[in-house]
Amino acid sequence: MENFIFEYATKVYFGKDAAKEYLAKALSTYGGNVMLAYGGGSIKKNGIYEELIDILKDAGKNVTEFSGIMPNPTYTKVQEGAALAKKEKIDFILAVGGGSVIDCCKIIAAQAMMDEDLWEMEMERHQLPSVQPIPMGAIVTASGTGAEMNGGAVITNEEKKIKTGLFSAPPRFAILDPEYTKSVPPMQVFSGAFDTLSHAMETYFGRSDMDNVSDDVALAIMRNTVVNMRRLLTDINDMQARGNLMWDSAMAENGILKVGRFTDFQVHQIEHQLGAFTDCNHGQGLAVIHPAYYRHIVKDAEEKFTRFAKIVFNVDNAKAGIDALADFIRECGLPTKMGQLKSKVEITSEVLRQVADTCNIIKCNPRELSRDEIYEILMECL
Ligand code: NZQ
Ligand code: ZN
Repeated sequence: MENFIFEYATKVYFGKDAAKEYLAKALSTYGGNVMLAYGGGSIKKNGIYEELIDILKDAGKNVTEFSGIMPNPTYTKVQEGAALAKKEKIDFILAVGGGSVIDCCKIIAAQAMMDEDLWEMEMERHQLPSVQPIPMGAIVTASGTGAEMNGGAVITNEEKKIKTGLFSAPPRFAILDPEYTKSVPPMQVFSGAFDTLSHAMETYFGRSDMDNVSDDVALAIMRNTVVNMRRLLTDINDMQARGNLMWDSAMAENGILKVGRFTDFQVHQIEHQLGAFTDCNHGQGLAVIHPAYYRHIVKDAEEKFTRFAKIVFNVDNAKAGIDALADFIRECGLPTKMGQLKSKVEITSEVLRQVADTCNIIKCNPRELSRDEIYEILMECL
């Protein structure tokens, strides 16, 4: 185990009707001006919007709406939200959606409290904001990223063509009602769940010793995620499985698996840049890249891959474990090649070269990769 400090900041309300039961109480200690932030409108079609508006109005809150937060939220959208939050003197931000809405709100919360440009501060001067962000809460309507229980936010700077993690404060509370995910399109359900699996794998395959309690927890989360994704392949409306996946998602990215260890996250770094150039879906981009990356590094962490193979996929060697992962991706109907990703540009070798040349390189994975090897991995996915 490496040394660590660990603290939980987010209170979780999990279960059916959690918003009806707990939202008003959770908001009672904050001021009256609430920003209700959401995405492209799914919450207006599935009834969540009405349910929340009623709760907020009954609680006497003055609601300002901020809508249209897109998947892979942009820095421009952050600035729009921050300007509105400043203008309306917002006391609390309620993010209702998946990872994109929650991430966008985390950065709005910090940017609204400062005059300096947050991107410049974090990415160019490598400083964290010293201000206390506007407090926020997250109501998860699509699970997978685990964004509801951490302070990181993945934002796309379209001008600079960089998609990367910025830091703010974690939500004060998160409401996780599996029923709220009922209307998520099946492809997004599997993309989100694969993102969860990826978080646990990326944490587990970091370069740390094998004698680590966090690894055992990560393997349990991976196995549970696979089991419950398979349950959804049989019945997409299996709410028990949705509930398990919702908590797997939070657990995989709330920091608990990372305690006392180094993490990998090289696939995430590559996928984020792929997203910056193509606007592809995050979980689907990960599904395409993971098996190719693991085939490159398996020799550098054979013992770990063997343990993963046995515990997660019930096969007996490292190579068979990666093959089982690739088969599982196919079984879930997730994309396996770049050409299957929904992209705003044609994904060519030139685009992949740019991705390889601009992604972050991780130093605590089983082996540090060169940009040429990342390009090679990406070309194997073309
Ligand atoms: O915008 P609306 O209309 O709500 O539609 C959304 C969106 O199109 C839809 N959706 C959400 N809830 C729904 C629903 N549709 C029907 N019914 C519902 N109940 O789902 C679509 C995708 O939503 P999005 O939030 O983009 O998906 P996801 O949760 O996968 O978030 C992806 C973003 O999170 C970042 C990713 O990079 C990406 O930008 N990540 C954030 C992380 C973090 N902060 O810890 C970690 C992750 O590794 C990840 O990078
Ligand atoms: Zn992810």
